[in-house]
Amino acid sequence: MENILSPSLLAADFTKVGQQLEQIEKGGAQYIHLDVMDGIFVPNISFGIPVIQSIRKNSNLVFDVHLMIVEPERYVEAFRNAGADIINFHVEATEDPDGTLDKIKSMGAKTGITIKPDTPVSRIVSYLEKVDMVLIMTVEPGFGGQKFMAEKMSKVKELVEIRKQKNLSFDIEIDGGVNMNNVKEILDTGVNVIVAGSAIFGAENIEKRTREFLDILQEKTK
Ligand code: DX5
Ligand code: ZN
Repeated sequence: MENILSPSLLAADFTKVGQQLEQIEKGGAQYIHLDVMDGIFVPNISFGIPVIQSIRKNSNLVFDVHLMIVEPERYVEAFRNAGADIINFHVEATEDPDGTLDKIKSMGAKTGITIKPDTPVSRIVSYLEKVDMVLIMTVEPGFGGQKFMAEKMSKVKELVEIRKQKNLSFDIEIDGGVNMNNVKEILDTGVNVIVAGSAIFGAENIEKRTREFLDILQEKTK
């Protein structure tokens, strides 16, 4: 399985978004992680459909959208039309995870289901047959730059085991507090998609930092 880097736009300088997207692309990032917040599911508001639509015009990166909004099923179509390639939603945010997954699939996007740090893996087991990706939060969703919750990594081990038992092949993505010092250990647990916001966009040289991350990711793929 190829290891993938998904830098989180939340930490970018929004006066230079085009330029910074180019820098991560040149550095080798495959995805861009787009954090959508509604001020209800999480205590923060970020950006939404028009912003994604606008950057879609000048980026070839895979758009990895992380919806932190209530009733995500209401917006699947709009985010897909705006350019989302992968649509991740929180299992805690909807009464109909199955229907939401079906909607994402019918729109031709990849499906992703996400759990907050205190939500157990058992909450999503019955949906795993339908998902292309599981996103495990290692910070409380809502803000970038928080401390990595290492104890949540046991969920990755649990998921890897279930994936094997059920003979499935979904990706496992980690989001929150990832940096150059802990990324190796994270990859060792079986994660193959890495989100990093402040660790990438907070760097002096974004392209160089992206490449440094990629070097570690590729080393671990071998
Ligand atoms: C938090 C977001 C994260 C965030 C990660 O709610 O889901 O994607 O941008 O930021 P860092 O990498 O700085 O923890
Ligand atoms: Zn995120």
